[in-house]
Amino acid sequence: EKIKVISPATSANLGPGYDIFGLALSEPYDTITLSRSGGGISISVKGEGANKIPTDVDKNTAGVVVREIIKDFNIKEGVKIEIEKGIRPGSGLGSSAASSAGAAFAMNELFNLNLSKLELVKYASLGESISAGFPHADNVAPAIYGGFTMVVNYNPLEVLHIPVDFEVVVALPDIEVSTKKAREILPDSISLRSMVNNVGKACGMIYSLFKKDVELFGRCMMGDSVVEPYRSQLIPGYLEVKEKIKDLVYGITISGSGPGVIIIPKEGKISRIKEVLDEVWACPVYHTKVGTGIQIL
Ligand code: HSE
Repeated sequence: EKIKVISPATSANLGPGYDIFGLALSEPYDTITLSRSGGGISISVKGEGANKIPTDVDKNTAGVVVREIIKDFNIKEGVKIEIEKGIRPGSGLGSSAASSAGAAFAMNELFNLNLSKLELVKYASLGESISAGFPHADNVAPAIYGGFTMVVNYNPLEVLHIPVDFEVVVALPDIEVSTKKAREILPDSISLRSMVNNVGKACGMIYSLFKKDVELFGRCMMGDSVVEPYRSQLIPGYLEVKEKIKDLVYGITISGSGPGVIIIPKEGKISRIKEVLDEVWACPVYHTKVGTGIQIL
């Protein structure tokens, strides 16, 4: 018996929502197949950047999730994990999250565990601990729920979900940024003014989703004064792209810990946007939309 799922890329933070906001995308995605097997956990990885992904159970984000679920539910069988990466690792598009969330989702189906979405997020975030050093859930939550999600509390974990539908463009400059390092450069504390600024912009974003006001969403998304100023230094060309693209987009920001960037395009401007991205980065660009999360194939 086997279960095959597609697990999508996600864009975390979205500016002011560091470790809180996340958006599921329709593309790119990983394909994950779990099969019951005689004993032990085996992992194989192919596709985009597969050579960079450890296949050791304790070091692989899907492996850790499968191992924990087997332990907690006292499952006597083994599991064969086959991962086909469509999402480049270290891209800021939730590559590790797609594999861990896909594994949690597929384990639930394969062994009929009846886990809630929130419990799946909890298991999947264990995978994030090993790749980022903290079980941040802002990528695994949208992978599991689809649409837009907010991690309103860690410990105990609380996730809120808003289904939304709009177009996005994602660019993946050919630069490596490790999530761990991109977290280490952030300050431990921030000023009261920065807190007021970011909470204000985050409120504007949530309001915009209910009003279907994509202009307001993009404008507030660009208003982060805490994280982006540090991380933009890790992405050569980012500030140049931001300046050159400003009249063509409702918003642009770093996707997750980067180097990917997420853009909310204005109508009819996609080809101009692609030209700017090509001029500065000549990198892969996805014209996609908000997605509905993990699907069984
Ligand atoms: N919230 C996380 C971070 C997302 O920004 O470090 C990583 O993709």
